Amino acid sequence: MSTVSVAVSAQQSQLGKTAVKDVVRSMSMEEKARLLVGTGMPGWVGLTQLPDPPKMKVPGSAGKNHAFPKYHIPELILADGPAGLRIRPERDGSTRKYYATAFPVATALASSWNPELIKEIGHAIGKETKEYGVDLLLAPGMNIQRNPLNGRNFEYFSEDPLISGTMASAYVNGVQGNGVGATLKHFAANNQESNRFGVNEHISQRALREIYLKGFEIAVKNAQPWAIMTSYNKINGIYASENKDLLTGILRDEWKFSGVVMTDWFGGYGSEDEVRANKVSDVAAQINAGNDWLMPGTPQQVEAVIRQAKSGKLKKSAVDESTGRILKMIVQSPVFRNYAYSDRPDLKTHAQIARQAATESMVLLESKNKSLPVKLKGKNIALFGNTSYNFISGGTGSGDVNEAYVVSLMEGLKNAGAEIDHRLSDKYSPYIRREDSLQTERRKREGSLSKYIRIREMDFSDQEILQASEETDLAIFTIGRNAGESGDRPVSDFNLQQDEQSMIEKISRAFHGKNKKFIIIMNIGGVIETQSWKDLADAVLLSWQPGQEAGDAVAEILSGKVNPSGKLAQTFPKDYADVPSAGSFPGTPADFPVNSIYNEGIYVGYRYYDTFHVPVAYPFGYGLSYAQFDFSNLGLRHDSAGKMLHVSFTVTNSGKVAGKEVAQVYISAPKGILDHPLQELKAFVKTETLKPGRSQSFSVGIPYYDLASFNPATSSWEIEAGNYEVRLGNSSRHIILKNSFGIPGQMTVLKTGNLMKPDLKFREIKN
Ligand code: BGC
Repeated sequence: MSTVSVAVSAQQSQLGKTAVKDVVRSMSMEEKARLLVGTGMPGWVGLTQLPDPPKMKVPGSAGKNHAFPKYHIPELILADGPAGLRIRPERDGSTRKYYATAFPVATALASSWNPELIKEIGHAIGKETKEYGVDLLLAPGMNIQRNPLNGRNFEYFSEDPLISGTMASAYVNGVQGNGVGATLKHFAANNQESNRFGVNEHISQRALREIYLKGFEIAVKNAQPWAIMTSYNKINGIYASENKDLLTGILRDEWKFSGVVMTDWFGGYGSEDEVRANKVSDVAAQINAGNDWLMPGTPQQVEAVIRQAKSGKLKKSAVDESTGRILKMIVQSPVFRNYAYSDRPDLKTHAQIARQAATESMVLLESKNKSLPVKLKGKNIALFGNTSYNFISGGTGSGDVNEAYVVSLMEGLKNAGAEIDHRLSDKYSPYIRREDSLQTERRKREGSLSKYIRIREMDFSDQEILQASEETDLAIFTIGRNAGESGDRPVSDFNLQQDEQSMIEKISRAFHGKNKKFIIIMNIGGVIETQSWKDLADAVLLSWQPGQEAGDAVAEILSGKVNPSGKLAQTFPKDYADVPSAGSFPGTPADFPVNSIYNEGIYVGYRYYDTFHVPVAYPFGYGLSYAQFDFSNLGLRHDSAGKMLHVSFTVTNSGKVAGKEVAQVYISAPKGILDHPLQELKAFVKTETLKPGRSQSFSVGIPYYDLASFNPATSSWEIEAGNYEVRLGNSSRHIILKNSFGIPGQMTVLKTGNLMKPDLKFREIKN
């Protein structure tokens, strides 16, 4: 009798055939512990890369779980990252290369202000994910760009949570449309790389709710990502991966997230030394808090889970809940459904999408006297700057992509019919080849998180530049910057270096002396100083790190084949000292920050610069077009249920060429119980391509919840009574139309728990 019942239950306990809860019930604690803890990074032991790794399903992937054939639980493959699938192109025994498409970095994508486009990119990345046998993509990254020096800013969208949340939602919806999963990361407040494993970020409840969590809230509610990755850092004294207020109180109870929460790689260890010493994270605190999956996982963590569950420190109910969530995700995965992946995604089509996204993401910062567009065909161009010949497609670390090629600016200009001054290219090419191969060798030696070191600009004599100005039609200089995981940028990287400054001055002098144009391209992943040099050029194009189609995309904008329509999703301050967190970033002590105090509170980015009237180099939302646009008919309407404000307006192309414009709706709240920024972005739209004289009308809905501010004294989202100004413009400093409405009495929109309390007292700046 008993034999029969065992046989029946074993047969029933198979994922997909029986209810998940029954599978959970059938699994032993040892088995559950092995499911909750990953297998370690494929090809690595701890933090050491194996010289001779075992055969892997997807070389270069970042993690996986243990499989349990007896329960029909397969191995899910997890891989980075935000700008495209990060896998290794080389495979044992094959001469074929397994490349992925390098799309523009997230900061660039956000500059498109076009969620539809981001969804398309997400869809293409998701397709490559699926066709290369990966189940869960470790992207998008969506931390707030609190400070321009964060080395990973390129992986993130914006200084503004509405932009971050909207772009992340679009990205996730695109990826997951393929039936593979996306992972929002890094939850939360991973706003610096300095001591990323252990820094304690002290942030007020209001700044957390309105700035650092808001984007995640939007993406969770609008896109239901399969997974979320917790950040390494502590928030108000508690590691994100052990933070029950964050993972259960806010994420699951308030926002109703039903997916899987995983740690970042070795999250909760506090330092890489702890990993090397084979210590363990506090697995009980992590799983009890609602962090289901411990990634990439170590054998010591498996033992710790078993031990802590026995001792009662780790709740068995928490183990069961986490096991259930992981199993529910596995059931949806391609591997569970035996998807026959091709290993041959359509890279050609994706290259086209990458190119379109690159052009739509570029921001034209200057075009004095209509110096752009410029005819490229038949022009002889003096091309200066190392990265003109070696364009940077994206950042380093886990946000890197192994693409088949990057179209350099030299190639892009040639493809567009221009000629490149030989004297210059003959000098640049061998220099860059040599410096680049030294860099590649060094970085290979130092490992995957090795930093990129900017290659010193080649110096040209006044005479050489003068000669170029005589023999060519125009000059281009590219400023290049690269950064990535595990390090923040020094202030010297924010500013131009002497070698760059001197080249720019010499070129400007020589070419302007001959009445010829000088264009500067910014091939960067994070904000830099522009104030001191921008007037030396006729035109400045911010190309960002635009992915593999770089040079062709830049040429399309310069020539006017594509009319630029990108807008900044972050402010370019005049000086680093103007940044609201300049005095507190990356914390104290400065060389290895243990504490980082966010005393700028909610005043991040334009919320700070605009409120405190700080002059900036380029404001949030700014970007030029070859056309001009008029905004008209700003109307407001409230729905009868009193839950939604509808803002309507019309955008007209009053220029001479077709183009797209971004209309930005900012709202100013009245002073009341809380202080408020001068204005906050509450909605935005991008027009379709409008021919000259054509208009497009919009009506955008802004839920009242989005008008509310978080009052920590009452733990609620509240709308102040008084007069609200609706400000429509095409940058935060160019408001074209205004309208207003009144809220007769103070309203509480949502009461929340009193969660994530600060662990020390500090003063925040106030308006
Ligand atoms: C990064 C994550 C990444 C993970 C796996 C970590 O070092 O912080 O963003 O997904 O590695 O590669």
